[in-house]
Amino acid sequence: MFDRINRETARLATSGSAISRTIDLRLDILTGTATDPAPPVHAAMRHALLAPGKRLRPRLLLAVADTGTGALDAACAVEMVHAASLMLDDLPCMDDAALRRGRATTHLKFGEATAILAAVALITRAFEVFSELPVPTETRVSMAATLACAIGRDGMAAGQALDLGAAASGPVEIEAVNGLKTATLFAAAARMGALLGGLEETRAREVDLFAWHLGCAFQLADDALDHASSACVTGKDIGADVGKRTLDRAIGRSEAWAVRVQHLLMARAAARRAGLDPATLRDLLSFDEGLPS
Ligand code: IPE
Ligand code: IPE
Ligand code: MG
Ligand code: MG
Ligand code: MG
Repeated sequence: MFDRINRETARLATSGSAISRTIDLRLDILTGTATDPAPPVHAAMRHALLAPGKRLRPRLLLAVADTGTGALDAACAVEMVHAASLMLDDLPCMDDAALRRGRATTHLKFGEATAILAAVALITRAFEVFSELPVPTETRVSMAATLACAIGRDGMAAGQALDLGAAASGPVEIEAVNGLKTATLFAAAARMGALLGGLEETRAREVDLFAWHLGCAFQLADDALDHASSACVTGKDIGADVGKRTLDRAIGRSEAWAVRVQHLLMARAAARRAGLDPATLRDLLSFDEGLPS
Protein backbone atom coordinates (compact mmCIF):
# COMPACT_ATOMS: atom_id res chain seq x y z
CA MET A 1 0.00 0.00 0.00
CA PHE A 2 3.02 2.28 0.21
CA ASP A 3 4.05 2.07 -3.45
CA ARG A 4 2.18 5.17 -4.52
CA ILE A 5 3.49 7.20 -1.54
CA ASN A 6 7.05 6.13 -2.30
CA ARG A 7 6.63 7.12 -5.95
CA GLU A 8 5.12 10.48 -5.05
CA THR A 9 7.83 11.20 -2.49
CA ALA A 10 10.54 10.51 -5.05
CA ARG A 11 8.70 12.48 -7.75
CA LEU A 12 8.10 15.56 -5.62
CA ALA A 13 11.65 15.78 -4.29
CA THR A 14 13.17 15.51 -7.75
CA SER A 15 10.42 16.81 -10.02
CA GLY A 16 11.85 20.26 -10.69
CA SER A 17 8.28 21.29 -11.59
CA ALA A 18 7.93 24.89 -12.72
CA ILE A 19 6.62 25.99 -9.37
CA SER A 20 9.37 24.21 -7.41
CA ARG A 21 12.01 25.74 -9.69
CA THR A 22 10.54 29.20 -9.15
CA ILE A 23 10.60 28.68 -5.38
CA ASP A 24 14.18 27.37 -5.48
CA LEU A 25 15.43 30.31 -7.55
CA ARG A 26 13.85 32.81 -5.19
CA LEU A 27 15.18 30.98 -2.10
CA ASP A 28 18.64 31.23 -3.63
CA ILE A 29 18.27 34.99 -4.10
CA LEU A 30 16.72 35.62 -0.67
CA THR A 31 19.55 33.82 1.11
CA GLY A 32 22.32 34.92 -1.24
CA THR A 33 25.54 36.17 0.20
CA ALA A 34 27.88 38.85 -1.09
CA THR A 35 30.99 37.19 0.34
CA ASP A 36 32.89 34.42 -1.40
CA PRO A 37 33.47 32.02 0.26
CA ALA A 38 30.22 32.39 2.21
CA PRO A 39 30.59 32.67 6.01
CA PRO A 40 29.82 29.32 7.75
CA VAL A 41 26.35 30.30 8.97
CA HIS A 42 25.34 31.41 5.46
CA ALA A 43 26.74 28.24 3.92
CA ALA A 44 24.97 26.07 6.51
CA MET A 45 21.64 27.85 5.90
CA ARG A 46 21.94 27.27 2.16
CA HIS A 47 23.13 23.68 2.54
CA ALA A 48 19.88 22.76 4.31
CA LEU A 49 17.51 25.09 2.49
CA LEU A 50 18.55 24.66 -1.13
CA ALA A 51 18.83 20.86 -1.01
CA PRO A 52 16.03 19.12 -2.91
CA GLY A 53 12.83 19.07 -0.87
CA LYS A 54 9.21 18.61 -1.81
CA ARG A 55 8.39 22.31 -1.13
CA LEU A 56 4.92 21.32 0.04
CA ARG A 57 4.36 24.16 2.48
CA PRO A 58 5.29 26.96 0.04
CA ARG A 59 3.24 25.27 -2.68
CA LEU A 60 0.30 25.17 -0.30
CA LEU A 61 0.64 28.90 0.42
CA LEU A 62 0.87 29.70 -3.29
CA ALA A 63 -2.11 27.50 -4.12
CA VAL A 64 -4.31 29.37 -1.66
CA ALA A 65 -2.95 32.87 -2.35
CA ASP A 66 -3.36 32.36 -6.09
CA THR A 67 -1.73 35.39 -7.66
CA GLY A 68 -1.72 37.53 -4.49
CA THR A 69 1.12 40.08 -4.33
CA GLY A 70 4.10 38.97 -2.26
CA ALA A 71 3.02 35.32 -2.31
CA LEU A 72 6.30 33.95 -3.66
CA ASP A 73 8.42 35.65 -0.98
CA ALA A 74 5.98 34.63 1.75
CA ALA A 75 6.09 31.05 0.44
CA CYS A 76 9.90 31.13 0.57
CA ALA A 77 9.78 32.44 4.14
CA VAL A 78 7.68 29.43 5.16
CA GLU A 79 10.17 27.09 3.50
CA MET A 80 12.99 28.77 5.47
CA VAL A 81 11.17 28.05 8.72
CA HIS A 82 10.56 24.46 7.64
CA ALA A 83 14.22 23.94 6.71
CA ALA A 84 15.24 25.35 10.11
CA SER A 85 12.87 22.94 11.83
CA LEU A 86 14.49 20.03 9.98
CA MET A 87 17.99 21.16 11.00
CA LEU A 88 16.93 21.28 14.64
CA ASP A 89 15.00 18.01 14.37
CA ASP A 90 18.14 16.25 13.07
CA LEU A 91 20.44 17.36 15.92
CA PRO A 92 21.96 14.66 18.15
CA CYS A 93 19.84 15.90 21.07
CA MET A 94 16.69 15.39 18.99
CA ASP A 95 16.43 12.68 16.30
CA ASP A 96 20.19 12.34 15.78
CA ALA A 97 19.97 12.01 11.99
CA ALA A 98 22.81 11.64 9.51
CA LEU A 99 21.04 12.18 6.18
CA ARG A 100 18.61 14.91 5.10
CA ARG A 101 17.37 15.70 1.61
CA GLY A 102 20.02 13.37 0.26
CA ARG A 103 22.84 15.28 1.97
CA ALA A 104 24.75 15.00 5.22
CA THR A 105 22.75 16.71 7.94
CA THR A 106 23.81 20.28 8.65
CA HIS A 107 25.36 19.53 12.04
CA LEU A 108 27.46 16.72 10.56
CA LYS A 109 28.77 18.98 7.83
CA PHE A 110 29.15 22.24 9.76
CA GLY A 111 29.10 21.26 13.44
CA GLU A 112 26.29 21.51 15.95
CA ALA A 113 26.84 25.11 16.97
CA THR A 114 26.76 26.36 13.37
CA ALA A 115 23.67 24.23 12.61
CA ILE A 116 21.79 25.74 15.56
CA LEU A 117 22.85 29.26 14.62
CA ALA A 118 21.93 28.66 10.97
CA ALA A 119 18.45 27.51 12.06
CA VAL A 120 18.04 30.72 14.07
CA ALA A 121 19.28 32.72 11.08
CA LEU A 122 16.79 31.02 8.74
CA ILE A 123 13.85 31.71 11.05
CA THR A 124 14.84 35.33 11.55
CA ARG A 125 15.46 35.75 7.80
CA ALA A 126 11.89 34.53 7.24
CA PHE A 127 10.53 37.34 9.42
CA GLU A 128 12.80 39.84 7.71
CA VAL A 129 11.29 38.75 4.37
CA PHE A 130 7.80 39.27 5.82
CA SER A 131 8.69 42.75 6.98
CA GLU A 132 9.56 43.66 3.38
CA LEU A 133 6.43 42.25 1.70
CA PRO A 134 4.70 44.78 -0.56
CA VAL A 135 1.34 44.41 1.19
CA PRO A 136 -0.60 46.56 3.68
CA THR A 137 0.98 46.72 7.15
CA GLU A 138 -2.08 45.06 8.68
CA THR A 139 -1.66 42.01 6.39
CA ARG A 140 2.07 41.80 7.14
CA VAL A 141 1.45 41.92 10.88
CA SER A 142 -1.25 39.23 10.68
CA MET A 143 1.04 37.02 8.61
CA ALA A 144 3.97 37.43 10.99
CA ALA A 145 1.73 36.64 13.97
CA THR A 146 0.36 33.54 12.21
CA LEU A 147 3.83 32.23 11.48
CA ALA A 148 5.18 33.04 14.95
CA CYS A 149 2.28 31.18 16.55
CA ALA A 150 2.87 28.14 14.36
CA ILE A 151 6.55 27.97 15.27
CA GLY A 152 6.38 28.75 18.94
CA ARG A 153 5.04 27.67 22.30
CA ASP A 154 1.64 26.61 20.93
CA GLY A 155 3.00 25.15 17.70
CA MET A 156 6.02 23.35 16.37
CA ALA A 157 8.34 23.96 19.33
CA ALA A 158 5.69 22.61 21.71
CA GLY A 159 5.03 19.60 19.47
CA GLN A 160 8.69 18.77 19.04
CA ALA A 161 9.26 18.94 22.80
CA LEU A 162 6.30 16.63 23.43
CA ASP A 163 7.44 14.31 20.65
CA LEU A 164 10.78 13.79 22.37
CA GLY A 165 9.13 12.92 25.66
CA ALA A 166 6.07 11.11 24.32
CA ALA A 167 7.12 7.55 25.20
CA ALA A 168 4.09 6.82 27.35
CA SER A 169 1.36 8.58 25.41
CA GLY A 170 -1.69 7.06 23.70
CA PRO A 171 -3.26 7.66 20.26
CA VAL A 172 -5.05 10.86 21.20
CA GLU A 173 -1.84 12.43 22.54
CA ILE A 174 0.14 11.25 19.50
CA GLU A 175 -2.37 12.85 17.14
CA ALA A 176 -2.18 16.06 19.17
CA VAL A 177 1.63 16.04 18.94
CA ASN A 178 1.45 15.47 15.17
CA GLY A 179 -0.93 18.40 14.93
CA LEU A 180 1.43 20.68 16.84
CA LYS A 181 4.73 19.64 15.31
CA THR A 182 3.60 19.35 11.68
CA ALA A 183 0.02 20.41 10.92
CA THR A 184 0.27 23.87 12.51
CA LEU A 185 2.88 24.94 9.95
CA PHE A 186 0.73 23.58 7.10
CA ALA A 187 -2.25 25.52 8.49
CA ALA A 188 -0.15 28.67 8.92
CA ALA A 189 1.07 28.44 5.32
CA ALA A 190 -2.50 28.14 4.11
CA ARG A 191 -3.72 30.97 6.35
CA MET A 192 -0.96 33.25 5.05
CA GLY A 193 -2.08 32.38 1.54
CA ALA A 194 -5.65 33.25 2.53
CA LEU A 195 -4.50 36.60 3.95
CA LEU A 196 -2.60 37.43 0.75
CA GLY A 197 -5.40 36.20 -1.48
CA GLY A 198 -7.95 38.29 0.46
CA LEU A 199 -10.20 35.32 1.27
CA GLU A 200 -13.12 36.14 3.50
CA GLU A 201 -13.04 34.60 6.98
CA THR A 202 -15.50 31.72 6.41
CA ARG A 203 -13.50 30.45 3.43
CA ALA A 204 -10.22 31.07 5.24
CA ARG A 205 -11.38 28.85 8.13
CA GLU A 206 -12.14 26.03 5.71
CA VAL A 207 -8.70 26.51 4.20
CA ASP A 208 -7.16 26.27 7.69
CA LEU A 209 -9.03 23.03 8.28
CA PHE A 210 -7.99 21.63 4.90
CA ALA A 211 -4.32 22.33 5.59
CA TRP A 212 -4.43 21.08 9.16
CA HIS A 213 -5.88 17.70 8.11
CA LEU A 214 -3.42 17.55 5.24
CA GLY A 215 -0.56 18.11 7.71
CA CYS A 216 -1.84 15.40 10.08
CA ALA A 217 -2.17 12.96 7.16
CA PHE A 218 1.27 13.95 5.93
CA GLN A 219 2.94 13.15 9.26
CA LEU A 220 1.23 9.73 9.32
CA ALA A 221 2.53 9.05 5.80
CA ASP A 222 6.00 10.15 6.91
CA ASP A 223 5.82 7.74 9.85
CA ALA A 224 4.82 4.94 7.46
CA LEU A 225 7.71 5.73 5.12
CA ASP A 226 10.09 5.37 8.06
CA HIS A 227 9.55 1.61 7.90
CA ALA A 228 8.26 1.15 4.33
CA SER A 229 10.72 3.13 2.23
CA SER A 230 14.41 3.56 1.63
CA ALA A 231 16.90 6.38 2.12
CA CYS A 232 17.26 6.58 -1.70
CA VAL A 233 13.60 7.56 -1.99
CA THR A 234 13.20 9.77 1.08
CA GLY A 235 16.72 11.21 1.17
CA LYS A 236 16.82 10.74 4.94
CA ASP A 237 17.55 8.11 7.57
CA ILE A 238 15.19 5.15 7.62
CA GLY A 239 14.24 3.45 10.88
CA ALA A 240 14.70 6.73 12.73
CA ASP A 241 11.42 6.25 14.61
CA VAL A 242 12.45 3.04 16.37
CA GLY A 243 11.77 3.76 20.02
CA LYS A 244 9.40 6.62 19.13
CA ARG A 245 5.72 6.50 20.00
CA THR A 246 4.17 6.96 16.54
CA LEU A 247 0.51 6.24 15.80
CA ASP A 248 1.30 3.09 13.84
CA ARG A 249 3.17 1.71 16.86
CA ALA A 250 0.34 2.67 19.19
CA ILE A 251 -2.62 1.28 17.23
CA GLY A 252 -1.12 -0.79 14.39
CA ARG A 253 -0.11 0.05 10.81
CA SER A 254 -3.41 -0.52 9.05
CA GLU A 255 -5.38 1.30 11.74
CA ALA A 256 -3.01 4.28 11.51
CA TRP A 257 -3.40 4.17 7.75
CA ALA A 258 -7.19 4.34 8.18
CA VAL A 259 -6.80 7.40 10.40
CA ARG A 260 -4.69 8.97 7.66
CA VAL A 261 -7.42 8.30 5.08
CA GLN A 262 -9.94 9.97 7.38
CA HIS A 263 -7.72 13.05 7.61
CA LEU A 264 -7.41 13.15 3.81
CA LEU A 265 -11.16 12.86 3.38
CA MET A 266 -11.72 15.69 5.83
CA ALA A 267 -9.04 17.73 4.07
CA ARG A 268 -10.70 17.20 0.72
CA ALA A 269 -14.17 18.07 2.03
CA ALA A 270 -12.88 21.30 3.61
CA ALA A 271 -11.02 22.23 0.42
CA ARG A 272 -14.19 21.78 -1.61
CA ARG A 273 -16.16 23.95 0.83
CA ALA A 274 -13.39 26.55 0.54
CA GLY A 275 -13.74 26.46 -3.23
CA LEU A 276 -10.08 25.58 -3.86
CA ASP A 277 -9.25 24.79 -7.46
CA PRO A 278 -9.68 21.01 -8.00
CA ALA A 279 -6.43 20.75 -9.99
CA THR A 280 -4.53 22.33 -7.10
CA LEU A 281 -6.21 19.99 -4.77
CA ARG A 282 -5.24 16.96 -6.83
CA ASP A 283 -1.64 18.14 -6.79
CA LEU A 284 -1.53 18.75 -3.04
CA LEU A 285 -3.39 15.51 -2.32
CA SER A 286 -1.23 13.54 -4.70
CA PHE A 287 -0.78 10.83 -2.07
CA ASP A 288 -4.49 10.07 -2.11
CA GLU A 289 -4.75 6.91 -4.23
CA GLY A 290 -7.52 4.71 -2.95
CA LEU A 291 -9.50 7.50 -1.32
CA PRO A 292 -13.23 6.93 -1.67
CA SER A 293 -14.81 9.82 -3.61
C1 IPE B 1 9.66 16.39 6.79
O1 IPE B 1 8.93 17.21 5.93
C2 IPE B 1 9.24 16.67 8.20
C3 IPE B 1 7.86 16.26 8.49
C4 IPE B 1 6.98 17.06 8.96
C5 IPE B 1 7.46 14.89 8.30
P1 IPE B 1 8.98 16.98 4.35
O2 IPE B 1 8.77 15.53 4.06
O3 IPE B 1 8.02 17.93 3.72
O4 IPE B 1 10.47 17.35 4.01
P2 IPE B 1 11.09 17.98 2.68
O5 IPE B 1 10.78 19.43 2.74
O6 IPE B 1 10.46 17.31 1.48
O7 IPE B 1 12.56 17.70 2.78
C1 IPE C 1 9.53 16.23 12.35
O1 IPE C 1 8.96 14.97 12.31
C2 IPE C 1 8.55 17.29 12.31
C3 IPE C 1 9.22 18.62 12.35
C4 IPE C 1 8.65 19.59 12.92
C5 IPE C 1 10.52 18.85 11.73
P1 IPE C 1 9.97 13.80 11.97
O2 IPE C 1 11.07 13.74 12.95
O3 IPE C 1 9.19 12.56 11.74
O4 IPE C 1 10.53 14.31 10.56
P2 IPE C 1 11.64 13.54 9.72
O5 IPE C 1 11.13 12.14 9.51
O6 IPE C 1 12.89 13.58 10.52
O7 IPE C 1 11.69 14.32 8.45
MG1 MG D 1 11.40 14.34 14.91
MG1 MG E 1 13.18 13.47 12.48
MG1 MG F 1 9.64 11.13 10.29
